[in-house]
Amino acid sequence: MTSMTSMTSADSSFPETTATGAPRPGGPGLLAGRTVSRIGYGAMQLERLHGDRGAAVELLRRAVELGIDHIDTAQFYGDGLVNGLIREAIRPRDGVRVVSKVGAAPNPGGPIPLRPAQRPEQLRASVEDNLASLAVEQIPLVNLRRLDTGPGLRAEGDQVVDIDDQLAVMTALRDEGKIGAIGLSSVTLDGLRRALPAGIACVQNAYSLVTRTDEDMLALCRSEGIAWVPYFPLGSSFPTMPKVTDEPAVRAAAQSLGRTPAQVGLAWLLHHAPNVLLIPGTANPEHLRANVAAGTIVLDDATLAALDAVPTRSADVALG
Ligand SMILES: NC(=O)c1ccc[n+]([C@@H]2O[C@H](COP(=O)([O-])OP(=O)(O)OC[C@H]3O[C@@H](n4cnc5c(N)ncnc54)[C@H](OP(=O)(O)O)[C@@H]3O)[C@@H](O)[C@H]2O)c1
Repeated sequence: MTSMTSMTSADSSFPETTATGAPRPGGPGLLAGRTVSRIGYGAMQLERLHGDRGAAVELLRRAVELGIDHIDTAQFYGDGLVNGLIREAIRPRDGVRVVSKVGAAPNPGGPIPLRPAQRPEQLRASVEDNLASLAVEQIPLVNLRRLDTGPGLRAEGDQVVDIDDQLAVMTALRDEGKIGAIGLSSVTLDGLRRALPAGIACVQNAYSLVTRTDEDMLALCRSEGIAWVPYFPLGSSFPTMPKVTDEPAVRAAAQSLGRTPAQVGLAWLLHHAPNVLLIPGTANPEHLRANVAAGTIVLDDATLAALDAVPTRSADVALG
């Protein structure tokens, strides 16, 4: 398997264990100049546990015990619910990088529970909301969620904002110390190229074994030392998105390896490029354990070739 240790690092020691002493699932990776486990956790699915706070907090504690020290969140996940759960479950001594995003606001009851919030003043307000709900003085990395590509929302009217105007407020927030680094999400290759001078630490686009239209962007990120943190790494919980676990080549590999199709899909991502960091989402403790265990899977050349040959589909689908 390729390793992040070939990449340049501000944190050259690449600790093999997390702050809590757990081995790193998937090995060590780099995010905004710091070492994190390559298998992290996307917290969006915790919205589904809104009726059982105890189960959600327990799942987050279990993630830390399993060696996860990179959690993806947003103020707009459950209108502060998910950030509140993270605040309750995660302690400073856990050494977890809690990464957030701005560019949308809650839209309860909508087909997609989000609406655009792209204006510079909305981006600043959202960072402030994240700081308050997470009860921290700095968020180590904040993704600017553009609406240029990928599934779901598109900007209209005054929500169509030039990326340079958005980067101006993001860099000001970084200068003020409110955010540690800037990432981009749902961005095009041109948009990323324009943003590079601002210093981009991470890109989050929809990407998985079955939706790989962004290979050029992944390659640019790799050459620039930018982490590639795909969202919907399994194809999401939305029924309209192609599912990694439905793919016959994935199912065949899973059967011959004695693993699950989801684990094979995650293992393929880890093998595909060294700058890939994973944030699969789950509300199920058994799936969390399985996703972490995917870091131990070694795919041989024949299996990798079979998975690489899976035809790609666009991730730009309606979610509602
Ligand atoms: N930047 C952005 O704009 C953006 C957009 C969307 C999401 N995100 C982030 O990306 C993260 C990942 O995306 P996602 O959660 O939407 O989609 P995902 O990780 O592709 O898939 C989640 C779905 O897969 C299921 N699942 C997870 N592990 C499984 C396993 N081992 N076996 C079988 N099924 C499994 C989950 O159900 P169970 O709960 O039953 O396991 C859930 O239905 C989110 O949590 C969020 O933090 C970012």
